[in-house]
Amino acid sequence: MTGPAVLLLDAAGPESAALARAAAKRGHQVHAATAADGPAPAPEPAGQVVTDFARPDRAVEDITAYARHRGVGAVLTANEYLTGLAALVCAELGLPGNDPHLAHAARDKAAMASVLTAAGVRVPYTRLVHDDTELQDALADLGAGFPCVIKPVSSAGSAGVTVVTSAAQAAPAADTARMARGPYSGQGEAGILVQAYATGDEYSVESVTQDAHTTHLAVTRKQVTGGARRVETGHSLPVRLPPATETAVHREVDAAIHAVGIRHGASHTEVVIDPDGRCTVIEIAARLGAGHIGILLQHALGIDVFAALLDVALGRPAALTPTAHGHATVRFITAPHSGRLTSLTGFPKRGPGVPFVRWRAAIGGPVNAAGANADRLGCFVVTGPDAAEVEQRADTLLRQIRLQVDPTPAPDDRDQLSSASRSAIAP
Ligand SMILES: Nc1ncnc2c1ncn2[C@@H]1O[C@H](COP(=O)(O)OP(=O)(O)O)[C@@H](O)[C@H]1O
Ligand SMILES: [Mg+2]
Repeated sequence: MTGPAVLLLDAAGPESAALARAAAKRGHQVHAATAADGPAPAPEPAGQVVTDFARPDRAVEDITAYARHRGVGAVLTANEYLTGLAALVCAELGLPGNDPHLAHAARDKAAMASVLTAAGVRVPYTRLVHDDTELQDALADLGAGFPCVIKPVSSAGSAGVTVVTSAAQAAPAADTARMARGPYSGQGEAGILVQAYATGDEYSVESVTQDAHTTHLAVTRKQVTGGARRVETGHSLPVRLPPATETAVHREVDAAIHAVGIRHGASHTEVVIDPDGRCTVIEIAARLGAGHIGILLQHALGIDVFAALLDVALGRPAALTPTAHGHATVRFITAPHSGRLTSLTGFPKRGPGVPFVRWRAAIGGPVNAAGANADRLGCFVVTGPDAAEVEQRADTLLRQIRLQVDPTPAPDDRDQLSSASRSAIAP
């Protein structure tokens, strides 16, 4: 073994697995902090501390005691819900991490709107509401009227987010937002958000900050379903924006990163760019973009972002310069409607130009119409030197996929699916 041990907070999911592999490849022993009822870490860690992520004070104590005992020299998480805890643990252990006093603002979207507004970042006008009277008041106050967006304060993966186009849709959308509490949310989270709708195209900016210096690795174009529920169905990178627009976007993102206290680590900032090139920040997360954006960065730009994040967490210089100049895209497959998946044909296989495929819905099992990212059934990545050819190939492969969904699920299927997908931000 070389170097200190590495601790992952929640070591389940593809991004965590990639971090664990990067650490193991460098000879670090990998440990995990997990919830008693959480998913099992994969790959299997050298050891684990079981704690209650819903009680941050207790979790900090449990995790720091464990980390000190095992000589942990880096603490990371790919789980957005644990980025605040990671900041607290790093601060307690004296390891490179984000500002523990600001980290909540990269999770709680009410706090996010306040600190970003105070920092001069353009964000959608946002109201926190606790009851129907406040909801009606906020709808009237939005001025521009409809559409507007009703969303949970601290969920993720589009869960509970509704684009509302009339007053009649507001109450059910508010109920949907209230029900979409993320994991570990405890009792404290009462309100929901009503937000002005930002018109334009959606992008995200993938960045890594080290010693408060930020490198923007790529701008990513997002494909999102239209209508009331906005599920991410594709990511493509790197996108070349007009230089003036890119400068403006980077300026907003830099200010956002600073405002939410990101000093050492990844960030994923979602923006809408309007036809005049004006950029509105929809949200910022103190983690690597989910949805296999790490794989896209690897294949398009030759950046091993997982190794880089490990270096950042260890306080070592991170390699963030592109070594390739290609293009990569991921396409997600969603069900046309809820029901039981009866057949799947034409799903691409891994091969030249298709470095990654993932299918996670069982034939014969329940599927949901796309309401949140966790409802996505699978995905594939296409990469190559030319952006237009990569996009065209991905679209062709997507068109070849045939799904059959029987619209009459067994009564208990929906419960099964929603509990199975509760903690998943991305397939
Ligand atoms: N204010 C907004 N204006 C326009 N679209 C929005 C707005 N807020 C959310 N959306 C749409 O809903 C999606 C999910 O909302 P977001 O705030 O990113 O929630 P999550 O944290 O669950 O990803 C966004 O990707 C976007 O398509
Ligand atoms: Mg989002």
